[in-house]
Amino acid sequence: MFDGVCWLDGEIRPLAEARIPVLDHGLLYGDGVFEGIRFYNRVAFMLDEHLRRLEDSARCIALACPWSRRELREIIAEVIAAQDRSEGYIRLIITRGEGPLGIDPSLCKQPRLIVIASGLRLASPETIQRGANLVIAATRRLPPDGVDPRIKSLNYLNHILARIEANQAGADEALLLNAQGMVTEGSAENVFIVRDDVLLTPPVTDGALAGITRQLLLDLANSVRIEAVERSLAPYDLYTADECFLTGTGAEMIPVKHVDNRALPECPGPAFRRLQDAFRAYVARYCSSR
Ligand SMILES: Cc1ncc(COP(=O)(O)O)c(C=O)c1O
Repeated sequence: MFDGVCWLDGEIRPLAEARIPVLDHGLLYGDGVFEGIRFYNRVAFMLDEHLRRLEDSARCIALACPWSRRELREIIAEVIAAQDRSEGYIRLIITRGEGPLGIDPSLCKQPRLIVIASGLRLASPETIQRGANLVIAATRRLPPDGVDPRIKSLNYLNHILARIEANQAGADEALLLNAQGMVTEGSAENVFIVRDDVLLTPPVTDGALAGITRQLLLDLANSVRIEAVERSLAPYDLYTADECFLTGTGAEMIPVKHVDNRALPECPGPAFRRLQDAFRAYVARYCSSR
């Protein structure tokens, strides 16, 4: 469970031994940003895109990041080299750092960088095989005029509440609606449906993280000649879809079998299979060219 390594304060140590001080505002207030990055064949996948999003998230919360993109790349390479897996997951976290009790971020003088390399499995092979069962959570996605959903912050309580609902319902994952009742995303994945051969996903402005896997899938759909459209989706659209699936760095691609106990006719469906082949081919090309 704690198998892996962690870069912390300039040193790499076994993950089980890595510790941060209790006055770190990342812990006290969720004040910080992060990225989850897969590595395949020891190559960090879509690293530029992840570092760009990390910088954007940090800028949005006025967190001055003292590490350059080059330094972050070097640390990530070091961490991948320091462990045994050739495939796994990097968690890159920048917290506001230590400060006195009280939320004022201006009292935290030194941000803290944490880079973990470990394994990550969001769904069991059996779930992926049979297709995930989703529920639509009663918990709504926080509105963008509160916290912009594009900020990938350490504050996941909104999503955790939705995930608790899924657990209590015996489902594999929950989807969150926005205040207007339109679908946004899963607790840690973006959502797609297929209807009459068209791939549909909600626009980020409806309240989803601008997922890197989501964008890659939209681009790959183009290359395998599947029409792809960003459009607001109601629960009705999911209940009546031909196919539905989740995407994310952790999740990769997970086909969906049920939404609120309505069975989808095709799981995994033909569009999912074509896109999954294209995704796997892209990962292989990306990782062999670096
Ligand atoms: C809330 C949320 N939505 C979507 C995603 C998928 O984004 P990505 O494909 O960039 O991993 C994640 C992944 O961490 C997430 O936490």
